[in-house]
Amino acid sequence: MKFFADTADIADIRDLAETGLIDGVTTNPSLIHKSGRDFIEVTREICGIVDGPVSAEVVALDHETMMKEAEKLRKIADNVCIKVPLTLDGLKTCRALTDDGTMVNVTLCFSANQALLAAKAGATFVSPFVGRHDDNGFDGMQLISDIRLIYDNYDFETEILVASVRHATHVLEAAKIGADVMTAPPKVIRGLVNHVLTDKGIEGFLKDWDSSGQSIL
Ligand code: G3P
Repeated sequence: MKFFADTADIADIRDLAETGLIDGVTTNPSLIHKSGRDFIEVTREICGIVDGPVSAEVVALDHETMMKEAEKLRKIADNVCIKVPLTLDGLKTCRALTDDGTMVNVTLCFSANQALLAAKAGATFVSPFVGRHDDNGFDGMQLISDIRLIYDNYDFETEILVASVRHATHVLEAAKIGADVMTAPPKVIRGLVNHVLTDKGIEGFLKDWDSSGQSIL
């Protein structure tokens, strides 16, 4: 399973990239706003830190303007992945861009039928938002299972990018279902390492090591 960092915070991205655990980055207009940085500049900087796909989202709602925005965004770096909304204009833009060899992430997916359309439009990634799905009384993980089943039925190559991940259980369940990618805020990714028995184990081993009077170096 690939891990993408869902942030536009450069310090966080650098720090996570050094762990070797992240395979890409996803941003959205809200995360760009939160960063306080210029969209193009911060996206260029992120693309220089990670080798994998960096999603940069268009804000136009019509196909023609989406294409113009995508044209500007894809010039930033070879690893830019254009993010488009799951609308008919977004899907039309997706088809045009992927036919031209550009990676596309179709975002704001809330139903398996929408994911089916994204795959038919040739999307590189589809982003079902599990957290927001749960927030609204639906079952985010059932959505991931349904999309996995449909994509496997027809051998679609579109990767399921689980987004709006809020906690470790989302990551675990998505991995069990066989989602291709998950994107999460840095604190959720770092939190995956935590286990009370790991901490207790280290404490016990170091106590005994101190008593042994030895040193490795
Ligand atoms: O990048 C899209 C998605 O991950 C947003 O998550 O927590 O704002 O629902 P959230």
